Amino acid sequence: MREVMDIQCSHDVFENVMELAKRRGFIWPASECYGAVAGFIDYGPLGAMMKRRVENIWRDFYIIQEGYYEIECPTIAQEAVFIASGHVKGFSDKMCQCPHCKEYLRADHVAEGGNVCNASIMKNEELSAAISSCRCLACGEILGNVEVFNFNLMFSTTIGPGSQRIGYLRPETAQGMFVDFSRLLRFYRDKLPFGAVQIGKSYRNEISPRQGMIRLREFTQAEAEIFVHPDEKNHHPSFRRYGDYRMPLLTYIQQQKCEEPVEMSMREAVDKGIIANEYVAYYVALTHELLVTIGINPERLRFRQHLPDERAHYATDCWDAEIFSPRFGWVETVGIADRTDYDLHAHARQSGIPMTVFIQFDKPKKTVRRRIIPNMSVLGKQYRTKAKAIFAALGDATPTTEGVDIEIGDEKIHVPASLFEVRDEVIDIRGEEIVPHVIEPSYGIDRMCYAVLEQAYDEDIADGEKRTVMRLSPNVAPVQVAVFPLMARDGLDIIADDITHTFHKKGLLAEYDDNGAIGRRYRRQDEIGTPFAITVDYDTKETNTVTLRDRDTMKQVRVPIDGLTETLRALVEGRITFTSLMP
Ligand code: GAP
Repeated sequence: MREVMDIQCSHDVFENVMELAKRRGFIWPASECYGAVAGFIDYGPLGAMMKRRVENIWRDFYIIQEGYYEIECPTIAQEAVFIASGHVKGFSDKMCQCPHCKEYLRADHVAEGGNVCNASIMKNEELSAAISSCRCLACGEILGNVEVFNFNLMFSTTIGPGSQRIGYLRPETAQGMFVDFSRLLRFYRDKLPFGAVQIGKSYRNEISPRQGMIRLREFTQAEAEIFVHPDEKNHHPSFRRYGDYRMPLLTYIQQQKCEEPVEMSMREAVDKGIIANEYVAYYVALTHELLVTIGINPERLRFRQHLPDERAHYATDCWDAEIFSPRFGWVETVGIADRTDYDLHAHARQSGIPMTVFIQFDKPKKTVRRRIIPNMSVLGKQYRTKAKAIFAALGDATPTTEGVDIEIGDEKIHVPASLFEVRDEVIDIRGEEIVPHVIEPSYGIDRMCYAVLEQAYDEDIADGEKRTVMRLSPNVAPVQVAVFPLMARDGLDIIADDITHTFHKKGLLAEYDDNGAIGRRYRRQDEIGTPFAITVDYDTKETNTVTLRDRDTMKQVRVPIDGLTETLRALVEGRITFTSLMP
């Protein structure tokens, strides 16, 4: 926490990071030559590579380690999907327009800037009155009389010619996994728990995105939907993996009392009822480990529980992984929610397709079933053409001593008790149909990438000069190793070129560079975060060794060319440290 305070007081790294990111090919404004539109970015060559590495670490955790397969659904879906999910009706922000500069503003942001409390629970008229004395966030004038209205954040489109079929660009990847539930269930051989994951673009027509990579109109989400038996949420099969994992938790009660987060293990958090169940606790801990793996400083990471009035109406518990940014404060980067059975019920209702799982009992349960046995010969004579329908309806009816009331089409029919016999039978029930609950860890990849870049940015002194260095974790650095011949002659260039090719063949991204003084070449690589550099010098020819330089300490060590690829791979994957290679 202390370090966070220090960082808060230090200068804002946002400008420096974005300048470097643009200049060196990490992040560019999209369609810049036409005047960039806020909320859209391009990942340049290095940014796209770094993002891919972050996504692949995410895949390692969720697909390889958790065993949840990845699926890929369209980014456009028909209206029915988003009617069911509630996005058509309720996915909106409260907006107003500044009467002076005509800028559209998020009303809750205006309220926040003007210290208006409880804006999130105010009705539109109430909020209009509350923000009338606040200043416009764009021009600074007092707003005065403004109307607050709801603005749906989904981008709409039409599917096919004729504009008759409404479609929407998905605002989250999650819905694809819910609508595929029946197929996924069959894929996982009808057994709970199972999960599906998806990494892909989501779209939200954010009102005034002025926060770089933090608030985009097109962004990448990585989401897992884990389907569990509602009675088994406290029995994650691998909970022992994270039971003793400790981290600071900011519960909603601490927030209400303005207290600091408290460190505890996941086992303690579940036992004390702080985290709703083992599944949520498991993914809170896994998320912590994943974020630290990509290079997030644990001192700048916290897990905050949603306040009761902040939680989505369908969620029973929700925790956000928030990463501290000197520019933006605590930024929500991952949300881990227990979504209950809300989504599957909603899609079953809208589509008419049941979304249930048959759970077989360990032993069949005996139960008494009351059956109605109609007297068909009398029923046939009395009701003639309707007799068949009446016979079918009697199967589900509840009899009284007077008889049974049933409906055939619009007609109500009373069947007297004399026309049927009631029999109680003992039958075996093999199992039951249940609607699974969903645990959802939802990651924003762009926010993770921004945090990685921001936290990696550093300046120090090398050879008496200022050095800009991106201290990226080697597992996300776009270029993994640089290879330099000391001189581009005398065969040194050939050896360096051969080493580079060997790295490439073994899947390491190596960059060969023979341009300029060696110090300049190091600086160029330091600036893009390349963690290691190899230099081929005249000794190489005699000893078959090269120098290996560590970006962070700038220390060098001589290592043999034999086994070099394996050494580099182990360094990049974090299986060995540079220090362990020092004599
Ligand atoms: N399916 C749940 C869901 O979408 P969310 O909290 O709205 O939940 C999950 O989004 C994550 O997606 C957020 O924690 C954030 O990292 C990212 N995200 C949401 N809106 C974003 C935006 N406009 N720009 C960039 N990332 C965004």
